[in-house]
Amino acid sequence: MYCLDLTGKVAIVTGGTQGIGKAIVDALLDCGAKVAAVDININHHQTTDQLLYVQADVTNSDQVNNMVETVIESFGRLDILVNNAGISSMDYAVDIKEVDWDRVMDVNAKGVYLCSQAAAKVLKKQGDGGKIINISSQAGKNGYRLMGSYVASKHAVLGFTKVMAIELAKDQINVNAVCPGIVETDMKKKK
Ligand SMILES: NC(=O)c1ccc[n+]([C@@H]2O[C@H](COP(=O)([O-])OP(=O)(O)OC[C@H]3O[C@@H](n4cnc5c(N)ncnc54)[C@H](O)[C@@H]3O)[C@@H](O)[C@H]2O)c1
Repeated sequence: MYCLDLTGKVAIVTGGTQGIGKAIVDALLDCGAKVAAVDININHHQTTDQLLYVQADVTNSDQVNNMVETVIESFGRLDILVNNAGISSMDYAVDIKEVDWDRVMDVNAKGVYLCSQAAAKVLKKQGDGGKIINISSQAGKNGYRLMGSYVASKHAVLGFTKVMAIELAKDQINVNAVCPGIVETDMKKKK
């Protein structure tokens, strides 16, 4: 695997205990970064010198702010945020329940906004740049049957990415999104 040297860098990966998030955590560790794997569920995961597990719900601003503080206390700084936590829900658009719409938008879109804002404040204060990488989806660019709330949330991620990229460029903070196709994870199996 091609590996940048990320020795001395500190990364946060949300939804980092399984699936795509876990693969991102492992890749960052292989490149030498210290990593905080943040998840709503961190049972059975053991923290090490290089890998910190932090329990937080990305939809809760207090938990997100505390999570960022914990990372700074543990690792001393922050360089990279990967907004990966996400959920999906399937229904025809005319049948989507309000509670399902709200939950998908909260985790996938509000979670990106809250984590990015908390991380960006730290990155701006440090004054030496940083990276924010948002995991959107092909569903952030296209419409798919039965995926109304998910498609809307992933389009929102791309919109917010574009705004933050413009606003934070002057601080040398790069904000980008990636749009994976289908990946065989627990999320895919639930569809
Ligand atoms: N699997 C795919 O086919 C696919 C394709 C394109 C994009 N994506 C995106 O990639 C990301 C990861 O997907 P995955 O397939 O690995 O899913 P997954 O279900 O395997 O993992 C998602 C992780 O997010 C965590 N999570 C959920 N809600 C959370 C919350 N409120 N706070 C903190 N953590 C929370 C879960 O506990 C889990 O560990 C998602 O944003 C998803 O939309 C997935």
